Amino acid sequence: MKDKKVTIMIIAVAVLAIAALLIATSGQKDKSSVTISSTDSSTAKSQTTTKDAVAATAVTIDNYDFGPKVIKVKVGDTVTWTNNDSVKHSIVADQASDTAPNGDLFGKGETYKFTFTKAGTYNYHCMPHPYMKGTVIVE
Ligand code: CO
Repeated sequence: MKDKKVTIMIIAVAVLAIAALLIATSGQKDKSSVTISSTDSSTAKSQTTTKDAVAATAVTIDNYDFGPKVIKVKVGDTVTWTNNDSVKHSIVADQASDTAPNGDLFGKGETYKFTFTKAGTYNYHCMPHPYMKGTVIVE
């Protein structure tokens, strides 16, 4: 009877320890850039809201964030992303296809250009920072 209680206690402590560890590690997935975690959830939420789409062919990257996050372009338009961060970023479509961007890393002051030839909604992210999300709606 006593052994059973001890066993249950040990299991309970182990479960709590694992839960605490999971919470601790998920909270600091990228401690090197403190500002990211605060904007992370809002970025993900606003990302797919197509009614917020802005007619634009230029997107800037500032502080691990795309702006505007959701743009609207026409078939044949070329979108230019300009990186203002000191770290390198890339533009990679969430769903790979021949008509979706899949760019290499580009550094501060550099640009990446992609011409959209097929209508559709293209959600994209940055390869080394997948929480960086944006959308191009091609009409
Ligand atoms: Co990035």
